[in-house]
Amino acid sequence: MSVRLPATRNRVEAERPRTPPAPARAEAASPYSVFRHLQRGKPSSAVGVGVIGCGYWGPNLVRNFADLPNARVVAVSDLSVERLTDVHVRYPKVKLTTDCQDLLSDPDVDAIVVTTPVSAHFEIAMRALLAGKHVLVTKPITADPAQAALLIEAAEQRGLVLMVDHTFVYTGAVQTIKQMVDSGNLGQLYYYDSVRVNLGLFQRDVNVLWDLAVHDLAIMDFVLGQQPCAVAATGAAHVPGHHVNLAYLTCYFDGNLITHHQVNWLAPLKIRRTQIGGAHQMIVYDDLEPSEKIKVYDKGITVGDDQPGGMESRIGYRSGDMWAPKVSLTEGLRVEAQHFLECIEHHRQPVTDGHCGLRVTRILEAAARSLSQRGQPVELLVETGSSREGTLDLSLVQRSA
Ligand SMILES: NC(=O)c1ccc[n+]([C@@H]2O[C@H](COP(=O)([O-])OP(=O)(O)OC[C@H]3O[C@@H](n4cnc5c(N)ncnc54)[C@H](O)[C@@H]3O)[C@@H](O)[C@H]2O)c1
Repeated sequence: MSVRLPATRNRVEAERPRTPPAPARAEAASPYSVFRHLQRGKPSSAVGVGVIGCGYWGPNLVRNFADLPNARVVAVSDLSVERLTDVHVRYPKVKLTTDCQDLLSDPDVDAIVVTTPVSAHFEIAMRALLAGKHVLVTKPITADPAQAALLIEAAEQRGLVLMVDHTFVYTGAVQTIKQMVDSGNLGQLYYYDSVRVNLGLFQRDVNVLWDLAVHDLAIMDFVLGQQPCAVAATGAAHVPGHHVNLAYLTCYFDGNLITHHQVNWLAPLKIRRTQIGGAHQMIVYDDLEPSEKIKVYDKGITVGDDQPGGMESRIGYRSGDMWAPKVSLTEGLRVEAQHFLECIEHHRQPVTDGHCGLRVTRILEAAARSLSQRGQPVELLVETGSSREGTLDLSLVQRSA
């Protein structure tokens, strides 16, 4: 159903019979003519974007695409007329509908952004791909890995971009951490430990791991570039009829690397803190810090033998400088939206492509099995066909640092 909303001044003006265009010489003589080219709107080559689902998170995607010069937000769909009315107030030219099929059959829409609850991701994303649209879908890509694999196949067969909104990967802080890990300055990685807790919204269709830990698993997948070989999860559901609202997830990797992720919707304080420990340096990443989000500690231990040939090791402690590298504070979602458009324009593989979404959902599915077995470790097969080809134009992150 297309939605009829009260006509705004813009709409009324657009419908008024047009007066014949003024002669070119009169335009040139106008004192405003110097800037007239700026007012002609976005080029027709801009990617036409349709957003499906405009509840809490959707408006952020609408705003970011609307702000980018190489995108046109063509249409928005939501089941709620109230949500659509809010969109209309800010973007009176955007087409509105409660039936997402209208966007899928709209030739002006090149790409679909799926921002519905997780349970609807697969069906809408698949219909969009079958309709020949590029797709950006919010996290987690789907409610199970088999569905993610089907989306990847459908996108690859049609040469369409399939990207997952792993927002934090596109922040200056996470890009900086990735560069530090890749530089080898941290030395051999020992652990990755994250805490993401607050008095959060109880989601109807997913548990706290699928809602919150998904962020940490996406960051970890990007920063470490490795997949765990086993996971173990414990947790508890404190509200009858609701999903698990607090959980502790451990991921085991080949070698000695271990990661741990604590998530909780029932915490009095909001904490978003990650520690990454290496043999030479350690990082503390606090996403709630306004500017110094990353602190690097030149701390660690030295291990020596007590005596030549001795069995026991002697631990020495090393405590050097701490520093906070400058990171770009550009909104991650803006960098992500720009990256999605560039992948469409230049036929590139996104950094957070469907394979990335699949790897994360595989961990989440294994964690769900472990949860149901009271923390029994569950082995994971490493995805060999996975791609890690996407590269992000770092100037996008650095431009407004
Ligand atoms: N990256 C992030 O930081 C972040 C933050 C919050 C939410 N999210 C993700 O965004 C997605 C949406 O979450 P939310 O918190 O905005 O949920 P929400 O419930 O607030 O909004 C979802 C909206 O989708 C609409 N909807 C549902 N089915 C639809 C359909 N078939 N057609 C059109 N509209 C439909 C609903 O009416 C609702 O307004 C989820 O996947 C969530 O995981 C991401």
